[in-house]
Amino acid sequence: MDLTRAADLIRRGEIAGIPTETVYGLAANALDVAAIERIYAAKGRPKTSPLIVHVDSIEMAKTLVAEWPPAAQVLAERFWPGPLTLILPKRAIVPDLVTAGLPTVGLRMPAHPVALALIRACGLPLAAPSANRFTGLSPTTAQHVRDSLGDRVPLVLDGGPCAVGIESTVVSLAGPKPVLLRPGAITREEIEAVTGPLGEYVKSGLSDASPGLHAKHYSPRTRLILGPPPPEGNGAWVFHAHAIEGPRAVEMPSDPEKYAAALYDTLHQLDQGGLDWIAVEPPPASPRWDAILDRLTRAASAGDS
Ligand code: TXA
Ligand code: MG
Repeated sequence: MDLTRAADLIRRGEIAGIPTETVYGLAANALDVAAIERIYAAKGRPKTSPLIVHVDSIEMAKTLVAEWPPAAQVLAERFWPGPLTLILPKRAIVPDLVTAGLPTVGLRMPAHPVALALIRACGLPLAAPSANRFTGLSPTTAQHVRDSLGDRVPLVLDGGPCAVGIESTVVSLAGPKPVLLRPGAITREEIEAVTGPLGEYVKSGLSDASPGLHAKHYSPRTRLILGPPPPEGNGAWVFHAHAIEGPRAVEMPSDPEKYAAALYDTLHQLDQGGLDWIAVEPPPASPRWDAILDRLTRAASAGDS
């Protein structure tokens, strides 16, 4: 069975593509430096970008952190398993390579039966970034992983299309107040309902402290425009409310959860279409669309990667 094979590979220090409820991950034993090297090599990712470590329980999470504050307990009880990553001070057993030298580690318990079964079968925490080349579009199907990484990954477990479709919400609990580092399926309001008001993110000297904050990230190869189509060229209009005449029309769901679930697959497909541009109707200014707006803004950014 593939699950057994994946567990064997990972215990031997290899990597495997795995489904989660958010996006597919490229997983390896989080405690094995040589295995983590393989993740960075396969992705072409700079070693200044920390990886999220996936656990199967609060108990496993506690073995990796120096502190497990009350906010971690209440957030994990409320949102795990699920699309929430908690940043906490790490223990020495977590290699510096996993955290890109940061004194903190990102932890989450995924809500996908295959991911949880794999962590249990290995008996190990699994470091897993999204299973795409660096700055590329995140994969939401096993085929996306194969298209992006090909034979750089020995096995991709197929758990079907990802139900959430965009990456987890990242919340740091390493400072005096919880801070939102990356918007995701769990909204700021939902977090604040548990923790009280979040603090503001303060940029430190470590520009890579949260690579999710890189301007250009999650990008298709085709030029992406967040707004009306340009007059020239051959492109697609990706809309959730307003159809327009002219370009190829791609209608998205008007519900943000359904939109998120469809977003990357839609962009992956359009990216294969030989288009000059993909123009996307700006999402509504509403907290439930924050994570989608964040990913589209980054995908549209011509900035550095
Ligand atoms: O939904 C997800 O989070 C997916 C699935 C596979 O779990 N993973 C994912 O990983 O999106 P990746 O490597 O593409 O993004 C990792 C994010 C970055 O935005 C980074 O900001 C944050 O996690 N992160 C990880 N460790 C961190 C740390 N120690 N301090 C601050 N941010 C950290
Ligand atoms: Mg990623």
